[in-house]
Amino acid sequence: MSKILITSALPYINGVPHLGHMVGCLLPSDIYARYMRLMGNEVLYICGTDEHGTTSEVGALKENMPVQDYCDKYHERHKNTYAAFDLSFDYFGRTSSPQNQEITYHIFEQLDKNGFISESTVRQVYSIDDKMFLADRYITGTCPHCGYDKARGDQCENCTKVLEPTELINARSTISGSNNLEVRETKHLFLNLPKIEDKLVEWLKTKEAFWPDVAYSIAKKWVKEGLQPRCITRDLKWGFQVNKPGYEDKVFYVWFDAPIGYIGITKQWSDEKPQERDWKAWWLDAKDVRYVEFMGKDNVPYHSITFPATLLGTGENWTKVDYLKGMSYLTFAGGKFSKSEHRGIFAEDAVKEFPADYWRYWLMANAPEASDSSFTFENFVNTINKDLNGVLGNFAQRVMKMTASKIGSFVPEGGELQKVDYDLINTLKTRVADYFKYMDEMEFRKATNELRAIWVEGNNYISSTEPWMVIKEDQKRAETILRICLNLVRIYAVLSAPIMPQTAEKMLSKFNLQMKDMPSLKGFDVAKEINALPVGTAFEAGEALFERITPEQMQELQQKYGG
Ligand code: MF3
Ligand code: ZN
Repeated sequence: MSKILITSALPYINGVPHLGHMVGCLLPSDIYARYMRLMGNEVLYICGTDEHGTTSEVGALKENMPVQDYCDKYHERHKNTYAAFDLSFDYFGRTSSPQNQEITYHIFEQLDKNGFISESTVRQVYSIDDKMFLADRYITGTCPHCGYDKARGDQCENCTKVLEPTELINARSTISGSNNLEVRETKHLFLNLPKIEDKLVEWLKTKEAFWPDVAYSIAKKWVKEGLQPRCITRDLKWGFQVNKPGYEDKVFYVWFDAPIGYIGITKQWSDEKPQERDWKAWWLDAKDVRYVEFMGKDNVPYHSITFPATLLGTGENWTKVDYLKGMSYLTFAGGKFSKSEHRGIFAEDAVKEFPADYWRYWLMANAPEASDSSFTFENFVNTINKDLNGVLGNFAQRVMKMTASKIGSFVPEGGELQKVDYDLINTLKTRVADYFKYMDEMEFRKATNELRAIWVEGNNYISSTEPWMVIKEDQKRAETILRICLNLVRIYAVLSAPIMPQTAEKMLSKFNLQMKDMPSLKGFDVAKEINALPVGTAFEAGEALFERITPEQMQELQQKYGG
């Protein structure tokens, strides 16, 4: 048994998650956590809301509420949405917690003590009417290159040129619209990455053989282009007040305390549930912890460079990432998800339309791994009808109904296995090994396709063995075939559990079994599991596992959500 620490990138508190967020790190990390637990490992799976920064201040302003209340409200909303998606976090916390503040302060003090913090004065746009410095992206104006009149202070969306806010013509505050702006000097603290570079490069080298190529090459490219000091403070109210004399009116930059949030949230968990393991056992001088991080690919530089450098600079032995999985993007019918333009389905609405497992399955079967992928309702409906209804649901229902009507609602005894049965076992052995291999490698799309192939083998087996014909001549042989098929239903439940936990429970409940009583996936032996249900075990076919989605329903969905 190993200890596996799993984190999912912490979703920004403002805004509600859509399917792209779900598949970008939340869902794959959950599937990996569930799989690793079923493999018999000790897992700690952490996530939470990323709460600081201008975007929260602006969001709260828009809703006319104090930032704290705004964050409380959205934290609950995130939490409930993820619970509805069956994400199995050990703890879902918040970056604004006192625990995270304590650890952020500690890490900052260590960095400062070790000489990795530098000071510098910068010139920044101040909005007199908003009474605040404006982040570059909160300044709007006319692009000096193309004349687009809604260019942002950091970049023009129209011609994609990178901008300095002072280049904008007719610059105004995005928050209030005021053009009463001036450039002021302000002093900030910087994480001196060039000074940590040697340590970082040495550490990175030890990861080359283990990280996925994409992540490693992104990290290497950053180092090659030369690391720059990174500003870690901001002139804002909402955030952790900087714990250094002369900087009391500033807060830490959201990206400084956000990844530290992984640690802070673990401490929040251990303070709330002291009976569980201590947070330090996972994070500080931790023995035998393998740390796996999930994130969207745009977050790879922070997680492979800035955050590890922050931890290395403390001179303390913090747990650093052993493997990072960066996902590509999911588009909505080839375009962007947009709440305001009613394009795309958001997670909290999705689970009101269909059970979480329908989404979990589709998202993993189409996970944006090697490249981006696109959600369409047409594809979703086809997949659910074909794979879940047509293959898995149909198999389970058919086997149980046939056995019940021809033999009785219990697992029949039957007789010896024949060649075709051994062939099935051998095929499944190979497929199950591949399924586990893909899961181990976090190739979720391939893993899900392999799982479907495993279900298909069941349908192929029953079609070729034709128990409904055999029973006319040879009752005992028909019983053998159906016994194997009933055991397949149980096997499918266990194997599907990481991806479709509710469906797995539902399948097992037909035999009056529960997931918690199932064998560990470690050493899972098809030859043994194919005989696991004791002869005579009662079952109840009950209702179908999935419901077909009709063409009319599909049209309604398209009208409601676009695409
Ligand atoms: N909130 C960021 C995003 O959604 C991710 C932060 S990950 C962190 O892109 F943990 F490092 F904070
Ligand atoms: Zn432009």
